[in-house]
Amino acid sequence: FKKHQILLLPGDGIGPEVTVPVRELVSEINRSESGSQGKFQIELLEGLIGGAATDATGKPLPKETLEMADSCDAVLLAAVGGPKYDLLPYELRPERALLGIREHLGAFANLRPARLFPELVDASTLKPEVISDLDLMVVRELTGGIYFGKPRGIVEENGIRRGINTETYTEPEIERVARVAFDLARKRSHRVTSVDKANVLESSVLWREVVIRVHKDYPDVTLDHMYVDNAAMQLVRKPKQFDVIVTGNLFGDILSDEASQLTGSIGMLASASIGGKTGLYEPIHGSAPDIAGKNIANPMAMILSLALLLRYSLNREDLAQRIERSVSSVLAQGFRTADIAQVKGQVLGTREMGEKIIREYSRV
Ligand code: NAD
Ligand code: IPM
Ligand code: MN
Repeated sequence: FKKHQILLLPGDGIGPEVTVPVRELVSEINRSESGSQGKFQIELLEGLIGGAATDATGKPLPKETLEMADSCDAVLLAAVGGPKYDLLPYELRPERALLGIREHLGAFANLRPARLFPELVDASTLKPEVISDLDLMVVRELTGGIYFGKPRGIVEENGIRRGINTETYTEPEIERVARVAFDLARKRSHRVTSVDKANVLESSVLWREVVIRVHKDYPDVTLDHMYVDNAAMQLVRKPKQFDVIVTGNLFGDILSDEASQLTGSIGMLASASIGGKTGLYEPIHGSAPDIAGKNIANPMAMILSLALLLRYSLNREDLAQRIERSVSSVLAQGFRTADIAQVKGQVLGTREMGEKIIREYSRV
């Protein structure tokens, strides 16, 4: 039998800290699967990305990292970036590496599920009745839009500098991500909200037109459209009106951070970037320089990203659910990290929370 290979990219800031529990959880998965039929085993490889890669090699996205990613079954990335690298030119920034690996893998559909663990209903800043049972999915286009559009750059004319970015979408780019959203809606509550700015932007006019066309193949799914400013407001006003939100790269980035707060903390939200040959999995949070090195970061978004990897890339829905149940039951026992701590509950550090979840995994 062949071991499934996963490329683990710890990156910067809290990245290496939230990676520790994942290594241990993979060992536990291997241990508990070793007796089962079919011999499911995972081999973790590690690579460099972001500031950590720049420090070691001079480049944020070394060729070796992309080669390893190509030969693996999936990639699990923690986070990149930090103040130390903020003044580097664009091509050398850690964030550029993130865009680079997404583009290289062709991971055009970024699924960002925002589900509220019932135990955390008091951890959100929103009222319990507004968020209880919340379960929505943001499908963010990930390899196009203003993040990649050309022309871009900073130019100088007559002594005046101009920063340029271009929002651009082609019909095929819109169509393929719309299909991902409609297909997902079929496995959920059959509702898609397409978010755009079609009252101002031509790229959004085309977006809306193509989404409406693709929808003709999905008569069993309800489609509506919302301008992004309204969507941002509706997300906090009445978030349960949403099932699947499909939107472009920049709007999806912003709305998914907003959605994370409905679930208690950005430290809870995982993501799956699919559509390419190899899936890429990452928490939606960043490297959190403000809390790095203190063993207080919430490792759950990273652990839940491993669950998504098992679900979408390794076809092990059972193991994905087992991880999700373990997280759920540790929360039910009252354990919290600082970001989701309420009056009640015992606050654990990153490592200790990881250990609890792994112990739970070995029992459930
Ligand atoms: P951030 O997501 O890193 O942090 C925002 C806030 O949320 C901070 O207060 C942070 O402490 C908190 N937070 C984030 N993750 C947490 C966790 N797991 N547990 C507890 N609290 C958590 O966003 P930022 O501060 O805007 O960006 C910091 C750096 O990260 C920047 O360099 C940015 O470019 C980068 N970034 C990287 C990614 C990525 O790698 N996918 C995503 C977003 C930002
Ligand atoms: C994310 C991050 C990245 C993005 C940045 C760091 C490039 O915010 O993964 O959400 O905007 O895609
Ligand atoms: Mn973001």
